[in-house]
Amino acid sequence: MGITAVVRPGLAELVTETRELTGRSASPRATAFAVADALRRRPLSPEILTEEERLGDPDHYVGHILHTEPAFSIVAIVWRPGQETVIHDHIAWCVFGVLQGVEYETIYRLDGDHLTEAGRTANRAGDVSGFAPPGDIHRVRNIGETTAISLHVYGADLGTTPSSVRRVYDLPVR
Ligand SMILES: [Fe+2]
Repeated sequence: MGITAVVRPGLAELVTETRELTGRSASPRATAFAVADALRRRPLSPEILTEEERLGDPDHYVGHILHTEPAFSIVAIVWRPGQETVIHDHIAWCVFGVLQGVEYETIYRLDGDHLTEAGRTANRAGDVSGFAPPGDIHRVRNIGETTAISLHVYGADLGTTPSSVRRVYDLPVR
């Protein structure tokens, strides 16, 4: 077997642009919006992952870390039908863009000892959104019939920090 370099079309450009944007002294929210704009201007395709990576896993959604550096990380997540996250929020700003399929997001508000549903969005291929804590409690799931793939840019170094999740919310939803 030979050694084959993995080609990730568009990744180098996104890294360069995100590095430039995170180097400015902007608020986390403004940085997230600027990175989201950059991703909208130059949409990426599912081919940023290899054919094998795009298959996902029958047991759980799979995250592929594509790039990390001190100011940000880029992760592609593959969701087979029915796969979902727990309800969580984040340690840093985040941008996510759907590359394939549909990602269904439910947003919650923390009301003392319980959560209240605050909104639902269906994000389709080409949709990009950016947000920053606080007010970023959500659950993402693939309730569609095809495998979904999304690209996430987090304002954290996932090479040294184990997870982008700040807290998991195991609370009743009212
Ligand atoms: Fe999240």
